[in-house]
Amino acid sequence: MQIHFVDTPPANVRLTARIVNQGDSLTDLDAAIADGAKAARFKGRAGQVFDGFAMVDGTLSRIALSGAGESADDNRQLNVERAGAALTAKFLTSGETDMVIDLGHANLSGKEAAAALLGLRLRSWRYDTYRTKLAKEKRPSLTKVHVIGAPSGTETAWEEASAIAKGVEFTRTLVAEPANILYPISFVERCEKAFAGTGAEITVLGIEEMEKLGMGALLGVGMGSEQPSRMLAIRWNGGNPGDKPTVFVGKGVTFDTGGISLKPPPGMEDMKWDMGGAGAVAGGMLALVSRKAKANVVAVMGLVENMPDGKAQRPGDVVTTMSGQTVEVLNTDAEGRLVLCDALHWAQEEYDPARIIDLATLTGAMIIALGHEHGGLFSNNDALSEQLLGAGKTVGDKLWRLPIGPAYDKLIDSPIADIKNVGPRPAGSITAAQFLHRFIRKDTPWAHLDIAGMVWSDKPGHTWDKGATGYGARLIDQLVKDVAE
Ligand code: BES
Ligand code: MN
Ligand code: ZN
Repeated sequence: MQIHFVDTPPANVRLTARIVNQGDSLTDLDAAIADGAKAARFKGRAGQVFDGFAMVDGTLSRIALSGAGESADDNRQLNVERAGAALTAKFLTSGETDMVIDLGHANLSGKEAAAALLGLRLRSWRYDTYRTKLAKEKRPSLTKVHVIGAPSGTETAWEEASAIAKGVEFTRTLVAEPANILYPISFVERCEKAFAGTGAEITVLGIEEMEKLGMGALLGVGMGSEQPSRMLAIRWNGGNPGDKPTVFVGKGVTFDTGGISLKPPPGMEDMKWDMGGAGAVAGGMLALVSRKAKANVVAVMGLVENMPDGKAQRPGDVVTTMSGQTVEVLNTDAEGRLVLCDALHWAQEEYDPARIIDLATLTGAMIIALGHEHGGLFSNNDALSEQLLGAGKTVGDKLWRLPIGPAYDKLIDSPIADIKNVGPRPAGSITAAQFLHRFIRKDTPWAHLDIAGMVWSDKPGHTWDKGATGYGARLIDQLVKDVAE
């Protein structure tokens, strides 16, 4: 969707929209619209949309009102974003091709007006690449948004917001792609293309390099696949040369069959988005690179495909990680932690992070615990936890903290190796976090985000359609803004 600022709207556009706060007077509107909104019980609640027709100066006009809730609401910024998104949801496939949005209402600041545009844009993202027979009425018609009345500061704020939109869209595309299209090598290629010319440095480790480094856990997961594994790092030096970087590490299992501990067929197709952590890290990085964040940041992605095969690793195998610790692989379906432990260790050795945060669709148990409302947060550091919870609230990528500790850690001691890759059934998400914790240097602030319930949605949300949500990209961008800039 193209969004552009104009002084006067094109004459032939029928649809005009505005944002309305709860309780705003509508008296400056055409009387039929004002009365119609009242009759339809339009109150300006966040997400509420009214759409009416009126004859204005002898031509038929369509006027839409989108509610942003109370102007003093704590969630003001997200409510305005939602108001923008609700307009897209309403009109994307309506047949209207153009919309004028008048942002000179509802007392919006420049930053809030840009939030409305961010909502508009984010809600317009769809992935129709493989639909060759989509009926015309189901295809998006709305392609142009003409912005008028924008308060001062909107265009500058929009520059930053559109960088964020670009990052979220990149995450969504990576997550939505099927696994025959997106595998470790093509994931790397997508990133090389997306970051070309941005000034970000890309490092790729192939199988031989990872063998030399001793990444036996990550490589073990990829053994059953025809697709060679990769480690991908993207570095952005936007901060002071001496500042240690903030490092994000993503689980990039481009497909998870479970391996020899094969998953049951129903729902296995969902495991194309088992690279959602890596997708979030790549998109978050693209957002902050696109807005030229004044911070040093590294994104590390462990990319593998988990398949069953004659060469696949077996339950009971013992692998040696890059850290030197050995792992008894009791269940080849607990592969995410095997990928992450080598990625986390390598990231700490290579980049000496100020803080390290991993994102992963790590456990089904996380969805049982938190559903699709919050990602799970596990950390060895209270300050970093608060920062992440705060960043999540700001951008709507919500998190909820869960405990870790020695009593849980004991549950993954192995009788034959240093660690086993699964604990008992209870507290499955916590024991997964404990596993990762064993690969974190003593004094490094670390957080693990289990986002299994968040990267994909079976129904539309405020700013996304059903499918890939883009969760995590904005969280990463906001955390960097809050703590490193
Ligand atoms: N990728 C899955 C976790 C997952 C499941 C994410 C469903 C999203 C939806 C992960 O690799 C996995 O298979 N975890 C196992 C761990 C178990 C074997 C200890 C699980 O959650 O069942
Ligand atoms: Mn698995
Ligand atoms: Zn997995």
